[in-house]
Amino acid sequence: MSSILFAHRDPKAAETVKPILKAKNLLLLRADDGVRALEIIENEPVVAAWVQQDLPGLDGEQLLRRLDLQDLDIRVVLMSEDPSLKAARSALRAGAYDYLPLPLDENEFSDCLERILEEEAEPAGLPPAGPVPGRFDHIVGQSQAIRSVFRLVEKVADTDSTVMIYGESGTGKELIARALHQHSRRRDMPLIPVNCGAIPEELLESELFGHEKGAFTSAIRMRIGRFEMASGGTIFLDEIADMSPKLQVKILRVLQEQQFERIGGSKTINVDIRVITATNKNLRQAMEHGRFREDLFYRLNVIPMTVPPLRERQADIPLLIEHFLHQFHLNKGSRAKSIDHETMARLMAYPWPGNIRELENLVERMVILAENETLTVVDLPARIREAVAAPGQAPVEIPEEGIDFNQVVSDFEDQLLLQALEKAGWVKNKAANLLKLNRTTLVEKLKKKKINPPGG
Ligand SMILES: Nc1ncnc2c1ncn2[C@@H]1O[C@H](COP(=O)(O)OP(=O)(O)O)[C@@H](O)[C@H]1O
Ligand SMILES: [Mg+2]
Repeated sequence: MSSILFAHRDPKAAETVKPILKAKNLLLLRADDGVRALEIIENEPVVAAWVQQDLPGLDGEQLLRRLDLQDLDIRVVLMSEDPSLKAARSALRAGAYDYLPLPLDENEFSDCLERILEEEAEPAGLPPAGPVPGRFDHIVGQSQAIRSVFRLVEKVADTDSTVMIYGESGTGKELIARALHQHSRRRDMPLIPVNCGAIPEELLESELFGHEKGAFTSAIRMRIGRFEMASGGTIFLDEIADMSPKLQVKILRVLQEQQFERIGGSKTINVDIRVITATNKNLRQAMEHGRFREDLFYRLNVIPMTVPPLRERQADIPLLIEHFLHQFHLNKGSRAKSIDHETMARLMAYPWPGNIRELENLVERMVILAENETLTVVDLPARIREAVAAPGQAPVEIPEEGIDFNQVVSDFEDQLLLQALEKAGWVKNKAANLLKLNRTTLVEKLKKKKINPPGG
């Protein structure tokens, strides 16, 4: 039977709560001084404690400090005769779960208890608190390469600095932009994405800056632009390399002065915007060839980050496949739920020119066409079966600009470990045998590399 602690210098004060606790089948433990209250919390598995602020021995706030020092994680509700907001604030600041004025109101106590019991019951079905391994928000990945991107996102999210995200198409640049926004103080304001590559120049200008009524023939009413909508929040300018020179000048001004005019308007509009941009092109080259303004480049490139292509983070492939399988299974009720080792190994060896977008589409296609619960090699499209039919070649070719030796070796290790684990159905003994490693060596490596079974 669960219990709660009720600490009040007057033993009669507990009478109010007795019937409520009884109805909930909770045991009442009592203390009339703070030292005794602490003892009970230390020794009994109490669900929560209601503690009077002016207890002899230790007062309520002192008790909270002691619990904090001892890392005792328990919900404490402070009670005091002082009904002021100031008292409530002070209690919450000291780490109280809630604050109730005395004399205790039956309903208030009952509501408070109800909330605590609900929260206690919740964690069962939910994932454990804290970060889920192999993920950052909704972004799946545990390779060294993606983890260093996550770290950079955490570091710069809450600055107002302009971030430039480089990466091939389909690598997840937009997801990274969203994560940056979500981890910034602007998270409650909008993130407005604009795909600068997809919209013709004339339209893009009015899309970004808006226009006044009558600014051009088709402008039959005033229109607010994306910059204005994003004020207070973040604007995400995707495929920035494709922007015309005229718009480059206008964007530069917004960046420098945080102001602009709507098309056809003379009123200056002030905004407060964080700018994140992305490109799959080599922007430096575009600048050197005069297609991209140098001043704008340096304004945008304050914090550059690169999302690596999927072929450079093979460790993420099994996780991503499991993730999309799970998603399609949940959302579309598809039959296929798993994938066999051979098929997984083939998919890991495929170079993924379309990156995660290609992988997502492929899993969807396979899942729709599959006859069985487990995907096998026959479910692979021919082009992929053929592309990875000849394994055993050199795993890397050293390009002109050279490679990062440690990184490549580490990624190759990841790849071997993951392949062995996949083949062994994540049984570590078997995987170690496949690699002729000691089990302990393998376990150590997995721990160091933070490699976890998919979904676990
Ligand atoms: N690490 C990831 N985890 C889960 N889904 C991802 C991940 N990276 C990309 N995706 C998905 O892949 C698709 C392409 O991502 P996107 O951010 O649009 O790429 P980009 O902007 O680089 O072209 C989207 O559907 C996105 O949700
Ligand atoms: Mg994109």
